[in-house]
Amino acid sequence: MHSFIQHLPKVELHLHIEGSLEPELMFELAQRNQVEIPFNSPEEVRNAYQFTNLQSFLDIYYQGANVLLHEQDFFDLTWAYLLRCKQDNVIHTEIFFDPQTHTARGVAFKTVIEGITKALEQAKSELGISSQLIMCFLRHLSEEDAIETLQQALPYKEKIVGVGLDSSEQGHPPEKFTEVFRQAREAGFLAVAHAGEEGPALNIRNAIDILGVKRVDHGVRCVEDEALVAELAETRMPLTVCPLSNTKLKVFQEMTEHNIVELLRKGLCVTINSDDPAYFGGYMTDNFNAVANAHPMTHAELAQFTLNAIEASFISDAEKQALAEKVDHYVASHA
Ligand code: ADE
Ligand code: ZN
Repeated sequence: MHSFIQHLPKVELHLHIEGSLEPELMFELAQRNQVEIPFNSPEEVRNAYQFTNLQSFLDIYYQGANVLLHEQDFFDLTWAYLLRCKQDNVIHTEIFFDPQTHTARGVAFKTVIEGITKALEQAKSELGISSQLIMCFLRHLSEEDAIETLQQALPYKEKIVGVGLDSSEQGHPPEKFTEVFRQAREAGFLAVAHAGEEGPALNIRNAIDILGVKRVDHGVRCVEDEALVAELAETRMPLTVCPLSNTKLKVFQEMTEHNIVELLRKGLCVTINSDDPAYFGGYMTDNFNAVANAHPMTHAELAQFTLNAIEASFISDAEKQALAEKVDHYVASHA
């Protein structure tokens, strides 16, 4: 089973690039940029990663991002993640970045996007990994701030496929961002949003109905509304689920309690993703293994997570077909 998972072609749709900052690189960048961090070693950083809920994680995550200042830093961060993708046989990845986390500290939008996209281009040519980029608005900030961020993104529109919504879900529901999502969709961006991670099933409905999202990030609290679950199955609305994140942030106490396999078997377009792998102790293969250990599955079911992610991805139909053929071929060769 573990060998099947290790080599299975994978597609990641929910990865915050700032959440792939490993403690070792955090230290290196802190020294390189002479940024003070309240830790004496990478071990100390790791020991601080004891989370009780989403907010307890976000406080540490935004602090970690302070070491990112220059284009080279964003390149190094992204390249390190892409090398991990290669190890895990991730063949396509759609990456989130949080521009406001950086522009609020005086780092230019251009610095962030140039560093990330140069690494993505290099990964395409040197590692054979394709990608898309999604810009997230921070929901704890105002909609005006998000609208200003959308304006800053317009010159780079050809590098960004969509907009998303992340950060603290409690108290910041999807409808707070109705206007900026309307403007983003009008400008041609696809929409996604975190919803139903810590917030209620109603946030999932509103992300779909009001923000016009093409995918829901997390969405695991959909089970609190039976009619919604039926509708998600019927419409094949994708959920980008992050199993290790959910147990680390106590959305589920144990992986055995996680509902991802139940949702898969109900016909929902659920996918497995790593969210913030440096903080939650695992990349794509680790997430697949954690789910499979707690919920025994067939090879076909494991492969279905990748097929769902291909279906849910923001690439052309021809590209989807080429990726799906790789998965089908892999499964057939392991029959
Ligand atoms: N930003 C980074 N990871 C996140 C998560 N799991 N939920 C909300 N915002 C995030
Ligand atoms: Zn996330």
